[in-house]
Amino acid sequence: MKHLLNAKDLSLDDALLILDTAEQMAATSARTVKKLPVLRGKTVVNLFFEDSTRTRISFEAAAKRLSADVINFSAKGSSVSKGESLKDTAQTLDAMGIDGVVIRHSASGAPHRLASTDWIDVPVLNAGDGTHQHPTQALLDAFTMRRYLTGPMDGSPVPAGTDLAGCSVVIVGDILHSRVARSNVELLSTLGASVTLVAPPTLLPVGVESWGARVSYDLDDAIDAGPDAVMLLRVQRERMSAAGGGYFPSPLEYHRVYGLDKDRMDRLPEHAIIMHPGPMNRGLEISSDAADAERSTVLPQVANGVSIRMAALYLLLAGEKSEEPLS
Ligand code: CP
Repeated sequence: MKHLLNAKDLSLDDALLILDTAEQMAATSARTVKKLPVLRGKTVVNLFFEDSTRTRISFEAAAKRLSADVINFSAKGSSVSKGESLKDTAQTLDAMGIDGVVIRHSASGAPHRLASTDWIDVPVLNAGDGTHQHPTQALLDAFTMRRYLTGPMDGSPVPAGTDLAGCSVVIVGDILHSRVARSNVELLSTLGASVTLVAPPTLLPVGVESWGARVSYDLDDAIDAGPDAVMLLRVQRERMSAAGGGYFPSPLEYHRVYGLDKDRMDRLPEHAIIMHPGPMNRGLEISSDAADAERSTVLPQVANGVSIRMAALYLLLAGEKSEEPLS
């Protein structure tokens, strides 16, 4: 594996290797001295052409915990505003000497373009491209599900090789604009979980039936089926033409039909967890009762993101040093 571009590219062995390595990284993060020397001397560039809080900061924290140097590039305030292309931006950074690129871009396929040309010759990690893919989000979600839905089911570490066979996951919300949904369906299927996608017909992409997940328009049916996890997706109003853009009658109506409120939450099985990749629209796809509930894994997902990104950077950038023990 030279790059991490797409959840679909990950075989079961690849996915388990990243998840198990992330468990080792999480163990080191619990120590007083969190740093590992495995990427000392390497430089990682965070190339963000689109806004981010969690992904950008956790990739930076992950690289620093592995002792890499980090260059943070944000399109805002850069020469991109003067018309500089992705190719010229990438080659400019490459000329300064880099060992890996983390890229978020509003254009679907931009990370693949970077990885498949000779513009640069270093590992590329996709931090979210358009409505296409967000593989590290799917990995951190799977890591969280392993910890809460298998073993002691309390968020603690699980044995190496743990998959998600038999787990049922409902993903509800703006599937149309969601790179998180696509990556999650692909990875969860590889790990043996079954997925139900729930959305109004207007927020489902053409061809969703071919994704390998069940599709429903009825959240109450999906809740009453007793899933192990419900993942809410953000209504991506910035990708819609107006407040609701004609995708749904009103925010109030959306919340009434597709929002996770207290009543729906209380009908879930006792062990079921509530997930959201963030940022959340409280009162739209998720109520504060649900977002702040004890069974909400929103903040553990963020913490687990650092471990997953440490694992991905280590496996792709450490090279021959990856044979070294992590402890
Ligand atoms: N989940 C996620 O990608 O969040 P950010 O946009 O804040 O990185």
